[in-house]
Amino acid sequence: MLVLGVETSCDETSAGVVKDGREILSNVILSQEIHEKYGGVVPELASRIHITELVDIVNMALDRAAFKLDDLDGMAVTYGPGLVGCLLVGLSFVKSVHQSIGIPYYGVNHLEGHIFSNLLEHSELKTPHITLVASGGHSNLYFVEEWGKYRLLGSTRDDAPGEAFDKISKLLGLGYPGGPAIEKQSVDGKRDFIDFPRAMKDRDNYDFSFSGLKTAVAIYLKDKSPEFIKKYLADIAASFQEAVCEILVIKTLNAAAAFNVSQLSVTGGVARNQRLRTLFKERKPDNLEIFIPSPELCSDNGAMVAACGSFHLNKGEKSDLSLNAIPYLEL
Ligand code: KG4
Ligand code: ZN
Repeated sequence: MLVLGVETSCDETSAGVVKDGREILSNVILSQEIHEKYGGVVPELASRIHITELVDIVNMALDRAAFKLDDLDGMAVTYGPGLVGCLLVGLSFVKSVHQSIGIPYYGVNHLEGHIFSNLLEHSELKTPHITLVASGGHSNLYFVEEWGKYRLLGSTRDDAPGEAFDKISKLLGLGYPGGPAIEKQSVDGKRDFIDFPRAMKDRDNYDFSFSGLKTAVAIYLKDKSPEFIKKYLADIAASFQEAVCEILVIKTLNAAAAFNVSQLSVTGGVARNQRLRTLFKERKPDNLEIFIPSPELCSDNGAMVAACGSFHLNKGEKSDLSLNAIPYLEL
């Protein structure tokens, strides 16, 4: 089964072609750089770039896979959650192709797309397992009973971890996107320089909170001179990064233990973070396998959408022209 996946929920314009739900034939990702100069994603600009670039990105994905539109068995497109104007571009494009040449399509929940990204590289990942989606908009912990069946165990009560990285990066003058900027700055920093709070550490609660950490960093910086901040920038960044990563690891490993699973997967843009990846490996018990996709597959991409869509299309599930974009879609 040959499926084209289209992803335009935020600031990545992406399309990928996946065979039989597992094999990536192409995955073209355009990360829109224009937002860097505004310190965050400007929704109007993001949707306009999706409009001008999407057709070329899809053509590149088909060319690299060495297939034509007519060869496809199906298409998949993110219809939520995300920025509504951005979602509408991908969805309208896929609906138009569906209407004009009749290729069936399936509307994918972006969060489920992230969960499927692991399957593209780790066919050993089975159900049941625990999965963490840590991104710019979410930190959702799920018990995956079986593929397609998820129980939400916890989520953030305020900011998402990626959002915290982006905000603190701005505060430290490191730019957008904050995750990679803070990670780079942290490389030679002392992770225990400041003991920033790890919120809601209690064992039986799987919710997260990152807004207190953001305030703690702001309060810490308030009475520090520019010279001090410059001198200790790496240490401050590393201490903040450690606080975010440690709480994500603690809570996810607690969930894996409580649900007695032998496998765990982690996805979403924040899962690109090397310190997070290392901490998971350092802290995990011997009998727990951890799967994290390569960095490119952690961020938003068309191949993960295609993988998820393939699963549903294969079960005979299809979307029709009445499907609308849902910015706050839940999973
Ligand atoms: O999954 P994603 O590409 O888009 C959403 O669905 O939100 O995640 C984007 C988020 C951004 O907030 C970005 O700062 C964060 O992922 N991110 C990182 C890293 N790379 C991207 N956070 C921490 N460390 C990184 N290396
Ligand atoms: Zn995402």
